[in-house]
Formats: sequence, C-alpha cells, structure tokens
Amino acid sequence: MKETKDLQKEIRALLKQKNALMLAHNYQRDEVQAAADICGDSLALSQAAAKSDAEVIVFCGVHFMAESASILCPDKTVILPRLDAGCPMADMITAEDLKKEKEKRPGVPVVTYVNTTAEVKALSDICCTSANAVRVVNSVQSEKVYMIPDRNLSMYVARTAKKKMEWWDGFCPTHEKLKAAEVLKAKERYPDAVFVCHPECRPEVIDLADAVRSTSGMYAFAKETMAKTIIVGTEMGILYRLKKENPDKTFILASKSLICPNMKLITLEDVLEALQGMDRIVKVPEDIRIQAKRALDRMLEAPRD
Ligand code: 13P
Ligand code: SF4
Repeated sequence: MKETKDLQKEIRALLKQKNALMLAHNYQRDEVQAAADICGDSLALSQAAAKSDAEVIVFCGVHFMAESASILCPDKTVILPRLDAGCPMADMITAEDLKKEKEKRPGVPVVTYVNTTAEVKALSDICCTSANAVRVVNSVQSEKVYMIPDRNLSMYVARTAKKKMEWWDGFCPTHEKLKAAEVLKAKERYPDAVFVCHPECRPEVIDLADAVRSTSGMYAFAKETMAKTIIVGTEMGILYRLKKENPDKTFILASKSLICPNMKLITLEDVLEALQGMDRIVKVPEDIRIQAKRALDRMLEAPRD
C-alpha cells in the first residue's frame, strides 16, 4: 500500500498535468481535505469551481454536490471519485414526489435545500443552503412556503421566518443520530463549553445549542467565541480544519455517531484512480440543468435582510 504522502504527491502532479481543481467538502476524510486545492461547504465549492480556469473539477463530496458543480459549470468535466457516494436525505424526495406535493399546493413557492437531486431542483422555485435558509424563505413573495426535503432545517427556519410553512418529512440520518441526552452529558462533562450544532439536528438538540450554524458558519463561530472548549454537533470531518485553525481551543464531538458513511467513501486511492481514468463523471442533462440553475441563481440573487 502506498503512503498517504506519496498518494497526495501523485494526485497533485496529476491535477497539474490535467489542469484540474480538487475540491473537498468539510466532511471529507482528513487526508483528502489536506490534498485538496479548496475545502468548504457544498455551495461555496461549486461557486469556486465556476470561477476557476480549470478544465476538470474533482469534487470530493456526495453526488448532489457534483451535480451542483455541473449545473454551475457546464463546460467543465466534473469528476466524483466515488459515483456511489450519495446523500440519503437528497434521495428521500424524488421529482415525482415533488410534482404530487406541488399539485396539492397550487401557487405555493417551493424552497429547496441544496441537498437534493438536480431533477428536484429543476422543479423548485428557489434553492437555499443551511447558511441562508431563513433569508431565502423570507425573500419569497408569498405568505406560504413549501420547504423540502429536510424537516429539521424547515422546523428551524419556521421558528423565525415570517411565513406560513409546510415541509417534506425528510431528514439527514447522520444528524438525526445525535440525541439531546448525549449533548446534556457532554455539557455536564465540559461545563464551560459552548455547544454549536447544524440546523439538520433534531429540534430538541437545537434547543440546547448556544449557536446554530452551517458548516461554513461553524468555522467563523469557532474563531469568534471566547469559549475555549466547543462541543460540536455536526459530522466529524469538520474537526480537521476547526482544530488546525484554532490550536488554542478544544473541540468535542457531541456524539461518536456523527459520521456520514457516504462522505467517508472517497479515499486518496479513489481520487488517484478517478484522475487516471477520467471516467467517474457527473453531467446534468442540459434541459434539467437550465431549470435547476434558475432555482440556484434566484437564491444567489435573494435580497439581504
Ligand atoms: P453544507 O451545505 O454546509 O456544505 O452541508 C451539507 C451537508 O450535507 C450537511 O449535512
Ligand atoms: Fe447527506 Fe447528512 Fe451526509 Fe450531509 S451528513 S451528506 S445531509 S447524509
């Protein structure tokens, strides 16, 4: 077996040779994040892909993220090193499901979390991320909003948004695993710690949080907080950069179960093989791409509060 450093070196050389940009989501394995050109949240990575001059994008994340990159940069080759890396939450609602829900609510705008397939985005009015969900929901010109696919993010938004909301009953199996009892136990063990969690967590977990943040928001929170110990309620991959960027602080994962198996599928070997073979390509068909891009563009244009 090759050493991690050798694999990383080989990958970096191939990236250069193929004019390729390697992106890694915040939940990827440490060694994959370390090899990447850019680490970040799903939307920021797709936007970085669109801005770059690279011809090839190696997206280390899950399928819907590579689709978003394909939607925003149709002229680039988008590679997902493991084509079987999906997001179970994104797969909880199909385009057929959404069509039926829309028929039940004529004229009600659909706000769609980016964790969805391109086909579902194509049927949506506007997208949102966990970083801008409340603002996007408030920006919609309607009293009512239908939000998909995450019930926990929707319930979190409904706490403060000035809209009548209904939502699809999807969830993230990884964030759903975190229980309030585990957070209470961690708080008891670290009484001076603050607790920050992702809005995909259960409502009773969110009730215990000092801050609720998207993955990108958590990096900012960790830098800003005066607390020296931070209990983290999201996927464990986030700890890699949190620790690196804040060597004076201690980060405690709220539960050992906060591991997304899909996010952990991609290894350095997969990245290398994908670059050598150039065959693990994600390409959104043009008709769906144009419709899905409309929903993503509306999100980017949504007015700030
Ligand atoms: P981000 O949108 O913050 O990248 O999160 C995606 C995700 O899958 C959260 O579970
Ligand atoms: Fe999907 Fe949850 Fe994994 Fe994020 S952490 S990719 S929402 S299953």
